[in-house]
Amino acid sequence: MSPRRPPAPTRLTEAHDTRGFRSGDDVLDGWLRHRALEQLEEGVTTFVVAAPGEAGERVIGYYCLTRGAVERRRAVPRWRVRRGGAGAGATAANDPLPALIVGRLAVDETAQGNGVGARLLRDAVMRAATVYRTAGLPLLLAHATSAPAKAFYRHFGFTDTRVDPYLLALGLRHATGGPGPR
Ligand SMILES: CC(C)(COP(=O)(O)OP(=O)(O)OC[C@H]1O[C@@H](n2cnc3c(N)ncnc32)[C@H](O)[C@@H]1OP(=O)(O)O)[C@@H](O)C(=O)NCCC(=O)NCCS
Repeated sequence: MSPRRPPAPTRLTEAHDTRGFRSGDDVLDGWLRHRALEQLEEGVTTFVVAAPGEAGERVIGYYCLTRGAVERRRAVPRWRVRRGGAGAGATAANDPLPALIVGRLAVDETAQGNGVGARLLRDAVMRAATVYRTAGLPLLLAHATSAPAKAFYRHFGFTDTRVDPYLLALGLRHATGGPGPR
């Protein structure tokens, strides 16, 4: 693959070849090789892959996107609800804040350092921003599996939460530069 020309992310299908995927993290590799298709069938998680070519080409990177929620007080401070500011459909201050979660982001060792991880993460933010603008989930959480993974997410503007040292958050209002939903 030419440096800095990562393939466009696309949804994982049965036609993709995941067998030889190795990122250096056995857990993340195992998820892609053995469990991703199973999870797809359940329909609660979206798996997005980078594969240099049509479906059927070897996967060189992936992430998954799913729904979750976080205790509002322990998320980043700007997501606390202002007293009296909640309109119809808004949640109360103590309700969990619904969010999307990006996780299991990994790039094959042969392709690392070429912008594949960045392109996958930007794709996740873009998908989350679309959901935010249409349905109002204001937060994208990232579940990091190690200190370097945490540094990677921070590099792209994610900040620590007070929920778990390895759970980071990106406010989509801030990331998209405007209010939602529309
Ligand atoms: C972390 C990982 C996904 C990065 O993917 P990648 O394709 O090698 O990264 P990219 O080439 O897209 O790098 C994009 C930017 O992130 C930076 N970056 C990469 N890894 C980083 C890290 N661990 N900490 C901080 N910054 C990092 C790069 O320097 C680059 O910066 P630039 O755009 O300013 O030049 C990859 O190394 C990997 O799969 N590691 C093993 C699994 C893992 O740790 N997953 C993390 C999420 S759970």
